Amino acid sequence: MYNNINTTILQDERVDGADKTNGKAKYTAEYQLPNLAYGVFVTSNIAKGTIKELDISKAIAAPGVLDVIYYANCPAVPGYNPNASERPKNVNEWRGHKVLYDNKVRFFGQPIALIVADSFENANAAIRLVKTVYDKEEHETNFDVLRKDPTKLKPAVTYKRGQEKAFATASKFIEAEYNIPIEVHLPMEMHATIAYWEGEDKITLYDKTQGPKSTQSTVARTFGLQEKNVRVIAENVGGGFGSGLRSWANVPAACIASKKLNRPVKIVLTRPQMFNLAGYRPQSWQKIGIGADASGKFIGITHEAISNTSKYEDFREGIVNVSRFLYAVDNVDTKYNVLPLDLSTPIWMRGPGEASGCFALESAIDELSYQLNMDPIDLRIKNFTDINPENKMPFSAINLKDCYAYGKEKIGWKNRPTKPGTLKENGMHIGYGMAVGVFGAGKGTASVRAVFSKDGRLVLECAVSDMGPGTTTSMTKIASTSMQMPLDKIKFKLGDSDFPAGPSQGGSGTTSTVGSAVDMACKTLQQNLKELAIQFAPSFANKLITEMEVKNEYIYLTTDASVKISVTDLMKLSNKEVIDITITSNGNNPSQMKYTSNSFSAHFVKLGVDPKTGKVKLLKVVTTGDNGKVISPKTARSQMLGGVVGGIGMALTEQVQIDHTTGQIINSSFGTYQVPLHSMIPPIDVWFVDKPDYNVNSIGAKGLGEIALIGFSAAVANAVYNATGKRLRDLPITPEKINLKKV
Ligand code: MOS
Repeated sequence: MYNNINTTILQDERVDGADKTNGKAKYTAEYQLPNLAYGVFVTSNIAKGTIKELDISKAIAAPGVLDVIYYANCPAVPGYNPNASERPKNVNEWRGHKVLYDNKVRFFGQPIALIVADSFENANAAIRLVKTVYDKEEHETNFDVLRKDPTKLKPAVTYKRGQEKAFATASKFIEAEYNIPIEVHLPMEMHATIAYWEGEDKITLYDKTQGPKSTQSTVARTFGLQEKNVRVIAENVGGGFGSGLRSWANVPAACIASKKLNRPVKIVLTRPQMFNLAGYRPQSWQKIGIGADASGKFIGITHEAISNTSKYEDFREGIVNVSRFLYAVDNVDTKYNVLPLDLSTPIWMRGPGEASGCFALESAIDELSYQLNMDPIDLRIKNFTDINPENKMPFSAINLKDCYAYGKEKIGWKNRPTKPGTLKENGMHIGYGMAVGVFGAGKGTASVRAVFSKDGRLVLECAVSDMGPGTTTSMTKIASTSMQMPLDKIKFKLGDSDFPAGPSQGGSGTTSTVGSAVDMACKTLQQNLKELAIQFAPSFANKLITEMEVKNEYIYLTTDASVKISVTDLMKLSNKEVIDITITSNGNNPSQMKYTSNSFSAHFVKLGVDPKTGKVKLLKVVTTGDNGKVISPKTARSQMLGGVVGGIGMALTEQVQIDHTTGQIINSSFGTYQVPLHSMIPPIDVWFVDKPDYNVNSIGAKGLGEIALIGFSAAVANAVYNATGKRLRDLPITPEKINLKKV
């Protein structure tokens, strides 16, 4: 009954799979340049204050140390100048913490000096020789306490349609609070930069980034360079999940040191530094009020949230937005504040905003379903809408009901107890839960170069990066379909700012945005081949382009397939070495503007809770995606698997812990910040609706990076309630919180 995508996996190889498993694929920190020097950060051990003294004399005399750069000896960085009128033309202020700039400490673990040495070991060994005296100030890091003080919050952003707090007028309603701690991305590859000035005004960087163009423009506008004189290479990226969506302290620091020392400098963050020098999902508090009439029709949703930012930047995400548009409801009001803390700045992390928002909303809907004595899936169907109630535009496609049907059958929803805490298997309390995820599916601008050679090979180039989802594979597949030519004759190159401009890889937008450009480039190329055939191949003279097709490396006459010429013969005949084109695909076209586009997911969980220990054991996961056409079944499935694993971490284990007496993160290692273990991952059934959505782009594909994770933590919380009768609204759901003795 269901098209099981798994059956097609074997025919779908990852084009970069071999290089990534045999070690041939190079990551930023692995590049070696002649005369390379190594930089390591000395970091603060207070959270807030002023550095009174920073003694570098011993460190600078240590073996191999070339320099110790700090605020007193750091060369001027044009973009660091806070006064816009005094900055050189074309230089914008550096966004973020100005590393090595002043004697202020803004968060615990802030870089306060950069030791540069002839080896990584020598640089590291000198860290302890730097002596610092601080003037400490009171810091504020305790979100749970400070968020209750309205004077500490920035002004709220509010939204309202219909009546405010209408939920409370409904016959059944719930109102509850939800807490999510700081979570960190922790990609396998640490953030790293190698910077090398090739001249006074020309620099090359190897950088771990989700956007070579983004790093390029950051460096250009910080150092007053022309963009074309800044080259950023990020050929392979070992994960990101959002941490690579901006440039962190390692980028300007490497540029500064390389310039000062006139040699290439490499900086690689340590794993502990990955906890506070590369962003994180902000801590959040949310309150949801949701009410329905006796039939289950939603009467109103009120969604409030506060998340943290740093004291020096304002980071916000769309945490309450989902409540405005996912379900049919007339009365919605939302309110969102941020709380500045003496911590480093957060950044988008997989499913930014919605991952937090859906945990609260999808938990609340589940809770309401018990009040209504209604199946939670039926409750969602009751409030289903195919018109976005916020902007009143139809969804270009929404197939959530198909996801519900598949998930229900495959998880065994019929076995779900309607009364929580009543089903036991093998001595465990058994529960079933589900929840929905949603994320925007836009299409942006991208340029692609396509070079078709006389030997029949096609090379495509775009400056986007691939942080791991398999972009090279999916783009090669799109090109293969558009060109109607074999995969192995196509090479898609990315990860270099010298290539035509592409987006940062983020917001689940790469396939839609870059894929559309690849499709457009291939169709343009086919057009060019047809024109050449008319011009040079006698059998096509006087034929029309509309009666020709390019397929299987031949050009055919559609009305008579015996009239044909191979593309390689045509190239020879026309005496061409290459056809070399660059096209730009712009954002949404007018016909797409009639719609609002999102990707959707529905996650289903069966789990057991040990009555003695309170430990949760996931037994089965069914995860379903409604993201238009699936371009590459293998990489798409892997995305969903990764999202589920991330979701399990969010639900059960992950939390940054801060010692508020010092402001220090005290669990900045894999030993103490718990990510899911392999043994915690149950069998996962991944399924896609796989219906093309041509309203969003020509390839019919929407993104799935975010929806893979969004909503998953609520599915777990809902299943824990179903198993135990205990509603847990604070993540992660640890055994202490379940504490069944108190049930
Ligand atoms: Mo993602 S948070 O868009 O890298």
